[in-house]
Amino acid sequence: MALSPRPLALVTGASAGIGKELAERLAKNGCDMILVARRTDELNALAARLTEAHGAKVHVMSVDLGDATAPRKLFDDVMAKGLSVEILINNAGFGALGEFANADLARMISMIQLNVAALTELTGLFLPAMVKNRRGKILNVASTAAFQPGPLMAVYYATKAYVLSFSEALYEELRDTGVTVTCLCPGPTKTEFGDVADMNGTSLFSGPNVMAVGPVADAAFHALMAGKRLVVPGFRNRLLIFAVRFAPRSVILKMVKGFQSQRKG
Ligand SMILES: NC(=O)c1ccc[n+]([C@@H]2O[C@H](COP(=O)([O-])OP(=O)(O)OC[C@H]3O[C@@H](n4cnc5c(N)ncnc54)[C@H](OP(=O)(O)O)[C@@H]3O)[C@@H](O)[C@H]2O)c1
Repeated sequence: MALSPRPLALVTGASAGIGKELAERLAKNGCDMILVARRTDELNALAARLTEAHGAKVHVMSVDLGDATAPRKLFDDVMAKGLSVEILINNAGFGALGEFANADLARMISMIQLNVAALTELTGLFLPAMVKNRRGKILNVASTAAFQPGPLMAVYYATKAYVLSFSEALYEELRDTGVTVTCLCPGPTKTEFGDVADMNGTSLFSGPNVMAVGPVADAAFHALMAGKRLVVPGFRNRLLIFAVRFAPRSVILKMVKGFQSQRKG
């Protein structure tokens, strides 16, 4: 079934990067919005712009989705406002470069909480109403990291492998229900991600490997609206994941480690 004339979209991680760009495209195309992230000022500024530029009705919800109780609380707050979410964008996430043996374990666990548990719980909370109404669209943001293990970023790559596997399975389960699940797998993209993960300057995050955020959000938006199962923005990224299928795992592991350990300049 088609979406409502003014569908309500909830975007996690809307204060920066891919989520912010996606929120722009959704509002421009007639959606009302719930913007979710930790930084209230950024969300309020974006909300004001989306209302002024596109006439969108926007709700701001400042939430730390690294807290295990947050997804349920966010859902309860949305219900208490009598809002019905038709488009769910599970985008909030972060990575961290470094050897696992030396990692801050609490940070690793909160990465799993955000990238995996919050995404799963929000999907589980909002999905039943979508299925009942026979209308809904979900976008889960994974990564090209989902297609192979990532030495020096072991937990991050594993979280994204989960997101890809979970999303593709749901896509098939939901066939003919009126609800679609699309998995976005960007490669390196110019956002705050590189700073947060301390990846700037690595071979992986240098030069033409790194895409601008606009084309990534464009590809994601079109795939979401078309109800596609998977979208990998950028020819280089599609080539990479194709090649990974045929190369021996031992070679891939060494290559990924090399890309992430070499710093340029
Ligand atoms: N950029 C890349 O190279 C790349 C490549 C592949 C996949 N991805 C994925 O794309 C998604 C978006 O990343 P991005 O590149 O746009 O990075 P970004 O610019 O760092 O944005 C991340 C967003 O997530 C939010 N966020 C982080 N921790 C949060 C928390 N605990 N609770 C709620 N919100 C939180 C941030 O907002 P606050 O700080 O205000 O909370 C921000 O809005 C992530 O899932 C990332 O793994 C990125």
